[in-house]
Amino acid sequence: MPARRIQVDPQAPEGVVIGEGARVLAAGGLVAFPTETVYGLGADALNARAVARIFDVKGRPADNPIIVHIADLAALPALVLNIPAAARVLIARCWPGPLTLVLEATPAVPHVTRGGLPTVAVRMPAHPVALALIRAADRPVAAPSANRSGRPSPTAAQHVLDDLGDAVDLVLDGGPTPVGVESTVLDLTGPVPVLLRPGGVSLETLRELVGPVTLAAAEAGALEAAMFARSPGVRYRHYAPRTRVVLVEAGHDADPDSIVRTVRRLWDQGMRVGAMVTTETAAAMPPGAVVCVMGSRDDPETVAARLYAHLRELDDAGLDVIVVEGIPERGVGRAVMDRLRRAAG
Ligand code: TXA
Ligand code: MG
Repeated sequence: MPARRIQVDPQAPEGVVIGEGARVLAAGGLVAFPTETVYGLGADALNARAVARIFDVKGRPADNPIIVHIADLAALPALVLNIPAAARVLIARCWPGPLTLVLEATPAVPHVTRGGLPTVAVRMPAHPVALALIRAADRPVAAPSANRSGRPSPTAAQHVLDDLGDAVDLVLDGGPTPVGVESTVLDLTGPVPVLLRPGGVSLETLRELVGPVTLAAAEAGALEAAMFARSPGVRYRHYAPRTRVVLVEAGHDADPDSIVRTVRRLWDQGMRVGAMVTTETAAAMPPGAVVCVMGSRDDPETVAARLYAHLRELDDAGLDVIVVEGIPERGVGRAVMDRLRRAAG
């Protein structure tokens, strides 16, 4: 039986729909729901058996912990042992919003939710459906992105159904998710905050609010082992369409020529080529090319919002290779480039 899908108003979610979602969560079921970033696959975070089902359904490695979502600050003390000063500032300024904080976990957080780590990742999503669902369920909700492990994250209910189908009990369809890339993950358990995953809240904003932030990704050479232990998720191949992705990093200046050259070269090898390019480059593409326009290179928010939908669309187009144009790493552009580099392997 395919998963039940119920439409829900993303701005003013209907009480009966939210009530049904809450009932499924309370019974240990799985509910896919929209957040401002991507769709999550939710379960009662404190119910180890319910959370174990998430790992099953996604095909997720057991040592990759899951973000716990809350709707009210009053839920935090039950989950974390302490709230450092930097966390207080970030919570005041960025929640609800696309920022996940890694803090010391209380014993109340099941082992399975934390992937065996002594820490727990917590966030308060800025989406009326997510907030209403968590409040109605009256419990923290563990939710990874609702894709099958290794696929691009879902930014529409249809993506969830395409990947997970009948393995989910209920899909709340609140339309496309506005941010389009996942939350920023910041580790606050050490003396200096460590950026584990760039996302919806930019590094610039974090540094403005709390001062120095270390980049886990930049240390990936020598400190690889240490970093992997800190954020198991970065070890796995992520965000990847099935079709090969070639990323053309343009550096600081737009260079339509290098993208067009890459497309032509692959064409000449007899490949079916798709291109994901910025508005600025689209006009230079050879006629007949399968082109997806990402948005302006100076508008990373728009590029992020459509990124995964475009990757899925091109992935379904029967191509041999997808050529993607890089954008500047400013603001959410950093998260876009992180995901594209992973997709390109
Ligand atoms: O925007 C988002 O964050 C979405 C929506 C649904 O909230 N969720 C999401 O979850 O992207 P997921 O599971 O796809 O990615 C969570 C990331 C993984 O890289 C995981 O390893 C990391 O957060 N993470 C979770 N708990 C952690 C912990 N205790 N310590 C370090 N990293 C952790
Ligand atoms: Mg994910």
